[in-house]
Amino acid sequence: MEKRSIVLFLCFIVMAMPMVQDVDLGPKAVEKWFTKLPHAEQKVTKFHFYFHDILRGKNPTAVQIAQSNTTAKSLTLFRFVAMMDDPLTVGPEPNSTIVGRAQGIYGSVDKKEGALLMNLNFVFTSGKLNGSILSVLGRNHVFNEYREMPIVSNSGVFRLA
Ligand SMILES: *[C@@H]1O[C@H](CO)[C@@H](O)[C@H](O)[C@H]1NC(C)=O
Ligand SMILES: *[C@@H]1O[C@H](CO)[C@@H](O)[C@H](O)[C@H]1NC(C)=O
Ligand SMILES: *[C@@H]1O[C@H](CO)[C@@H](O)[C@H](O)[C@H]1NC(C)=O
Repeated sequence: MEKRSIVLFLCFIVMAMPMVQDVDLGPKAVEKWFTKLPHAEQKVTKFHFYFHDILRGKNPTAVQIAQSNTTAKSLTLFRFVAMMDDPLTVGPEPNSTIVGRAQGIYGSVDKKEGALLMNLNFVFTSGKLNGSILSVLGRNHVFNEYREMPIVSNSGVFRLA
């Protein structure tokens, strides 16, 4: 049985954005999209998914890529850095339908409490969101039940969100 550690168990995202009907990424289509922008309606999107960050076992989805010579002695693993390509699923089970990936880097940045600096892309791979990306940069206070992290960039259906 694989040991699993799930850093962000459930992500719940709410955002307002202009309504984007087609997500053609060609230069002409993008130009046309911008000309229509003043008439675009605001739209709120809510969705949730499960985020599996597996550090151990045969198929880890996140791997440590760096540490300092003091990391092992630190209670918070200060200066631990990992790179991840984690599945995002509809349900909590690991074999639940995959809707995207969380790809990025995180590291332990707090000497006193469990906190990560995370820089990652949510890359959606199914349905209407296929090909759309949300980029997140922020502090993940890992033992807090709720964590709020800024979305700093977007593409596809989330363009200009
Ligand atoms: C860690 O590495 C630094 C820089 O090489 C060195 O000055 C320090 O003594 C080392 N600390 C330990 C605990 O090994
Ligand atoms: C997922 O795995 C569980 C056991 O871990 C199994 O009961 C279930 O049928 C599996 N679901 C799918 C969709 O494969
Ligand atoms: C998502 O988009 C890619 C590239 O356009 C395509 O190859 C793939 O089949 C799509 N997947 C789904 C589930 O729609």
